[in-house]
Amino acid sequence: MKEPQLQVNDLSKAYRLGNTHIPVLERLSLRVDPGEMVVIMGPSGSGKTTLLNCISGIDTPDSGDVSLDGRTIDYTSEQERTQLRRRHIGMVFQFFNLIPTLTVEENVALPLLIARNRDARRVERVRWLLTEVGLERRLTHFPFQLSGGEMQLVSIARAMVHYPDLLLADEPTGNVNPQVGRSIMRILRETAKHEGTGVLMVTHSPEHGAWADRVCFLKEGVITAELKQNGNMEDPTPIHRKLLELGI
Ligand SMILES: Nc1ncnc2c1ncn2[C@@H]1O[C@H](COP(=O)(O)OP(=O)(O)O)[C@@H](O)[C@H]1O
Ligand SMILES: [Mg+2]
Repeated sequence: MKEPQLQVNDLSKAYRLGNTHIPVLERLSLRVDPGEMVVIMGPSGSGKTTLLNCISGIDTPDSGDVSLDGRTIDYTSEQERTQLRRRHIGMVFQFFNLIPTLTVEENVALPLLIARNRDARRVERVRWLLTEVGLERRLTHFPFQLSGGEMQLVSIARAMVHYPDLLLADEPTGNVNPQVGRSIMRILRETAKHEGTGVLMVTHSPEHGAWADRVCFLKEGVITAELKQNGNMEDPTPIHRKLLELGI
């Protein structure tokens, strides 16, 4: 059996607002294998973003544990949480989060600079990724000169630049047009397949969910159902049909 890339066990998280206690995740368990693409779907407020933020260490779980490549993350260590994002996890957000004063090429290279990666091939890696996402002619542009879809493609290249073990993507297709949405799904799938990266992605779109190996439904902090892809990945129609039947 393959070691899971990501294993989440009994993860719980609640927020406290004054005296009110708002449970968000309730003993949630989930695994993502190397090269596997798992999609999370669920209504607004069901805890999707909280789950990704707990995994990446942006937020800390109240209980339960998370391991990456068989190693349990120590969330009490600030340093470990930072290293986790610098070395092991790539993140894509709904609103891109690019640095406006840096060019496309500099934005993508930033994680390597922060991690003090002096690999001579790093310029090559940045340019290769930007070619993969179709932006090889935009290296010296600034974010304001790009469309929303192009900004998201830059942020995907940035999330991949340090060969993360795990890519977390929170509604990456939420603010792009359908054509770019499909390109994003293709790039995420190919990355999972060719680089062995585990991909955990949130979406509201059944069409995009249909690209996954597995779709998990989150409701009120627990996974209530799961759909597995058992057909031909080149033809995601059966899972799409099922998602539509379920009224997702
Ligand atoms: N920092 C926070 N403080 C208090 N409540 C929060 C905080 N972040 C999220 N929540 C609450 O947790 C619930 C789940 O939020 P979230 O994970 O963002 O849901 P989703 O991404 O599925 O829409 C919501 O009810 C939200 O209001
Ligand atoms: Mg969210």
